[in-house]
Amino acid sequence: MKRLTVPAIRRRKKDGVTADPIVMLTAYTARQAQLLDAHCDLLLVGDSLGQVIYGLPSSVPVTLDMMIAHGAAVVRGSYHAAVIVDMPFGAYEQSPQQAFANAARILKETGCAGVKLEGGAAMAETVRFLTERGIPVMGHVGLTPQAVNLLGGYNARGRSEAEAEKIVADACALDEAGAFAVVIEGVVEPIAIAATRAIACPTIGIGGSAQCDGQVLVTEDMLGMFERVPRFVKRYADMAALVSEAAATYAAEVRARSFPGLEQTYQPRQD
Ligand code: KIV
Ligand code: NA
Repeated sequence: MKRLTVPAIRRRKKDGVTADPIVMLTAYTARQAQLLDAHCDLLLVGDSLGQVIYGLPSSVPVTLDMMIAHGAAVVRGSYHAAVIVDMPFGAYEQSPQQAFANAARILKETGCAGVKLEGGAAMAETVRFLTERGIPVMGHVGLTPQAVNLLGGYNARGRSEAEAEKIVADACALDEAGAFAVVIEGVVEPIAIAATRAIACPTIGIGGSAQCDGQVLVTEDMLGMFERVPRFVKRYADMAALVSEAAATYAAEVRARSFPGLEQTYQPRQD
C-alpha cells in the first residue's frame, strides 16, 4: 500500500462534493499509529498530546520538540495514512518567516506530509507563505484550543451571528490562501455546514457536522480512556475499564504469588 498524499486527500472534494469522507484520528506513538494506520486517511499528531500524554492543563505549554519527537514516532509507525503534525502555540503566530522555519523543522525531522495550525483570516498570509514554499497546511477554525486563554473555555462557537459569520469567513480565507483542508471544531451544526459549502477544500469536523467532508476525534477520547469528554465525542470502546481490570488482576496475582506462573519463568536446562 502506497502512502496517501496531501493532493490525493485534497482531490476527495470535487465540485463541492466528497463521495468518500476523509477519516482522521490522532496518534502520538508508533504503536498507536501501527494500529490505526490501515483504517485512516490521515493521522494527526495533535498538540492535544499535551493533555492526553503529558497531563498538562491545556495545549498552550506544548513545545516544538515534543511535537517533533511524537511526529517522528507516528511516521515510523505508519505506512499508509498521511501524517499531519500540529504546530504548537508560539511556533507560528509571530510571522510567516517564523512559521516557515519551524514548519520546515517539523517536516525535515519527522518526515510528515504537512502541518496544521490554528486561526483563520489572521493566519491566511502565513498559510500562503508556507504553501507557496512547499509545505502543505491544514487550517483549524471555530473552537481553537490554543486560544483558550482568550476564549475563556472550550464552549461551542458560532452561536451569535457575528461569531458564525467570522467562522465561515475564516474558513474561506484559509481556503483561498491554499490550505488543503480545514478542521472545523466545536461549532453549531449550521455553521459547520455553511463553511463546508463555502469552501473548495475539504472540511474535517470535530463537534461540527456529519455533512463535513471528513471527521476527526482524539483517539484516547473515542477509546473511552477518559471519564470526562466533550459532547462531540462518541466512545467506541471502554479502554479505561479494560486497563483498570487488567491492572487489578495483575496486582491480585502478584500479591497471591500466582504470577509469574510456570510459563513465565525460566528453568535450568534438564540434560
Ligand atoms: O490536537 C488535536 O488533537 C486536534 C484535533 C482534535 C483536531 O487539533
Ligand atoms: Na490541536
